[in-house]
Amino acid sequence: MQIHKRFPDTLFGSQTTPAAIPAFESDPDPAGLVATDQPAGATLTASNAFFQNLGANQRTCFSCHQPQNGWAISAASVQQRFYSSLGNDPLFRLIDGATCPNSTIETYAGKILSFRLLLTKGLIRVGLPLPSSLTMTGLVDPYQCSNNTTVNVGSTSIYSFYRRPLPSTNFFFQTSNPSNLFMWDGREPSLISQANDATLIHAQAPTAPTSTQQTQMVSFESGIFSAQNFSSAARSLQTQSATGGPFALSSQPFVQGGPQPSAASLPAPFNLYTSWATLTATDPVSAARESIARGEAIFNSTTAKSCGGCHNTVNNGNRDNAANPGIQKFFNTGLANASATPPSAGQGITSAALADLDISGLPVFTVTCNDGSNLQGSVYTVTDLGRAMISGVCADIGAFKAPSLRGLAARAPYFHNGSAATLLNVVNFYNDNFNLGLTSSQVQDLVNFLNTL
Ligand code: HEC
Ligand code: HEC
Repeated sequence: MQIHKRFPDTLFGSQTTPAAIPAFESDPDPAGLVATDQPAGATLTASNAFFQNLGANQRTCFSCHQPQNGWAISAASVQQRFYSSLGNDPLFRLIDGATCPNSTIETYAGKILSFRLLLTKGLIRVGLPLPSSLTMTGLVDPYQCSNNTTVNVGSTSIYSFYRRPLPSTNFFFQTSNPSNLFMWDGREPSLISQANDATLIHAQAPTAPTSTQQTQMVSFESGIFSAQNFSSAARSLQTQSATGGPFALSSQPFVQGGPQPSAASLPAPFNLYTSWATLTATDPVSAARESIARGEAIFNSTTAKSCGGCHNTVNNGNRDNAANPGIQKFFNTGLANASATPPSAGQGITSAALADLDISGLPVFTVTCNDGSNLQGSVYTVTDLGRAMISGVCADIGAFKAPSLRGLAARAPYFHNGSAATLLNVVNFYNDNFNLGLTSSQVQDLVNFLNTL
């Protein structure tokens, strides 16, 4: 069959898909073991569209959503796949794996260059049209991949952003309302439409998946629960009454929590390691458990702007809208700013917080607000416009969803743009940008806690 694509790839070198995803799967990650529980039993990959090649480039959903990476992909795993396939694994496709679909990938050196954002930070290109309420007045783009004949569709200008895959798991906590919003910017109104668009875009399918295929993908990803299940430092995460790991998660109801004690009528955002708070032994394993419990308490507390104020779905850490449960809320944490900016228009980023991140290699967009709001005329210089690309609302520039925090250890780097290489970078960023005043031992407790999610 002749496949018509604007930009041809080399079609060989696929990774082998396992025959089944068992009811319980456990894989090593940098902090111990990450695991997935499927309460309804094993899934045979040959009979579920999530694992099937529905498009024109050998990609499947599994190309970018894998269990050993908490159902996303880590930059380390991307590098392994690149170097073991000489860059031929279907992850490395021009359409959105390369910095731009017209990149030169004829030589191995050309591939290393073209796939550099994917290799270094696990970033995938996302092309979106600009809402009319935003005027693009400046663009510094090392890849020449915005608003030109390579990417524009007819007379519609397309702008390229580079984003991390989100985990395709733990959706039980995001589907309590059928009209929830998915993706970093909430552009997908349901998992069904997401599965449809992902097949057409990432897999370059000539036709949409059938409704049976859409349902298979959505029921697979909605039926899995994943989390860190074992810690190299603290050992079992289910001992001494702790409730880490995917089994406890799969019986966790959808509950909205709030920071303690300011929202004391609500439960604490996380309660996995409360029982470890009273341990007193001094052996290394007990000490690791005590640190994790302290980290959980810091996460839940109102120390300045608390983590649990935004990551408030109990024991999952994504954010819903309290006024409209089950609908994502979007926040600007300052991460999309292209340079140190005082928080005059939206949330800025301090130079100390910027130094905790690596935003090198990202294009920089300058936009003027034209939405008729009180922000009319404000100028923003950002590496990604976030939710505003969908809503057209200037207040949403640089706003993103607060994702599930489970399985973090398996899927570095962090944030929509992969700018935090480690969880220590994540916590340092928050400490510096939100002026939390955490001591270095509190920072370490918080990192140790995040590593067990
Ligand atoms: C080439 C890599 C790639 C492939 C292949 C891929 N995804 Fe993704 N996925 C991503 C990226 C990148 C994002 C985040 C993009 C954004 O938010 O703009 C994402 C986001 C998602 C989300 C949103 C999760 C949330 O919390 O909002 C779901 C669901 C998802 N993918 C499922 C799928 C399914 C189903 C397929 C197969 C049809 C698929 N993906 C194929 C890279 C990929
Ligand atoms: C104002 C709301 C808010 C607060 C406060 C907040 N977060 Fe976040 N968090 C978010 C949003 C939004 C994102 C996604 C941001 C992005 O990528 O642009 C995020 C992302 C993260 C991620 C990365 C997830 C991933 O998959 O890459 C981690 C880890 C995290 N937050 C932990 C914390 C911790 C720890 C604290 C407290 C020190 C905290 N957050 C405080 C809203 C918040």
